[in-house]
Amino acid sequence: MTATPPVHHAISLRSVLAPDTSWNELRSTLTTGSVDIDSFAALEEARCLPDGRTVARRCIDGPVCFTVSDEAFLLVVSGRVELVALAGHASDGPSGEVVGEGQVRRLVPGAAAGIRPSASTDTAVVVEVSNVPGALKEQPESLPRLAEVPALPDYYYGYSDRYARVYEAGAPLWEPPEPNEALVHALETMGVEPCSVIDLGCGEGRDANYLAGRGFDVVGVDVARPALTKARERAAAQGVEATFLERDICVLADLPRQRFDLAINMGCLHMIPDSDLRSAHLKRVHELLAPGGLFLVAHCRERWLDGFFSVPDYESVGPVVPGRVIPRRIRLEDGSTTELMLPLVPYKESPTSELIDEIRVHGFELAADLSSRTAAFGSTTVLAMRKPSPDA
Ligand SMILES: C[S@@+](CC[C@H](N)C(=O)[O-])C[C@H]1O[C@@H](n2cnc3c(N)ncnc32)[C@H](O)[C@@H]1O
Repeated sequence: MTATPPVHHAISLRSVLAPDTSWNELRSTLTTGSVDIDSFAALEEARCLPDGRTVARRCIDGPVCFTVSDEAFLLVVSGRVELVALAGHASDGPSGEVVGEGQVRRLVPGAAAGIRPSASTDTAVVVEVSNVPGALKEQPESLPRLAEVPALPDYYYGYSDRYARVYEAGAPLWEPPEPNEALVHALETMGVEPCSVIDLGCGEGRDANYLAGRGFDVVGVDVARPALTKARERAAAQGVEATFLERDICVLADLPRQRFDLAINMGCLHMIPDSDLRSAHLKRVHELLAPGGLFLVAHCRERWLDGFFSVPDYESVGPVVPGRVIPRRIRLEDGSTTELMLPLVPYKESPTSELIDEIRVHGFELAADLSSRTAAFGSTTVLAMRKPSPDA
């Protein structure tokens, strides 16, 4: 199977406003692109082009609700926004998808869209582009659900900050460069052949790129943008093709394919202590897997390392750690190490049997418990869970 090469066009204001660009051409650029933030920052007012296309800039400093009467695109010029209750997005999830600076999202006709800053203190600037005037109609009354949706936990920003600070300090990587030993062992043991795979919480892409190099068709998702940039750079350096997307594994909207043969979660599920969010993730993985598909999970079972930031009850402990940072040792390019103060992030430990039960509830069956045979991951449970096939 060959991977579809990722397309990265930076969309400039000039190309959006060009009178000789048809909506279809613009639409395909908008669907695959990212935004040239600087050029859009200069846009001051709504423009209605002769052919009916409209481009409007808006500051998002609180929740705004729209009905979407015609296809429209949202370009985020600064800050981050959260999209809530969009058609085609998980409308029953506890939070929506976060769209950050330079990213573009398509709004589906017929939907109600809630847009708000992704944290209560943020403001964001977005540009709306549509083919007809008034494709987005602002609703005077906000969607009742908007107020009920909890703000995105601030730990999400912890990951981006952590990777960014580690690179700034001169470390080439946060995670080891080699693929996860537990994954290599699990693939071998389960006899997994190249197929379509989603790497959930792919970090710097060590596993995604390893799989791409072995002929898998790979999509890697993570919330941390600096890690995704690193993953793309490493793919290019290794001469492999994999698609890396900024997505929340509890939502997983707008993926390039609807079905995968394999899903891997190497150390990301345990980064999500909230049981509703874990459940949203497991439900979504089940939907995305083809019948008979495998879900490989590596999840912390007991205290990892002495001095590791074991904060099972992040909500109560987090606020009392000054600046919510703790000292961590990182390895620099020249092989030496240094200590950095890094954002505190929460995690959850689960005994193996609890983890199996938790995943089973979502319709998976246990294919193999590979934990005990993976010496280097003694404190980690490694499971192969299968989505049953109706013919089995
Ligand atoms: C311990 S790292 C593991 C990274 C990678 N799987 C590896 O083994 O190198 C956990 C990763 O999960 C990501 N993450 C945490 N919560 C996430 C979420 N809700 N959605 C997507 N990624 C998430 C973090 O940004 C981080 O890169």
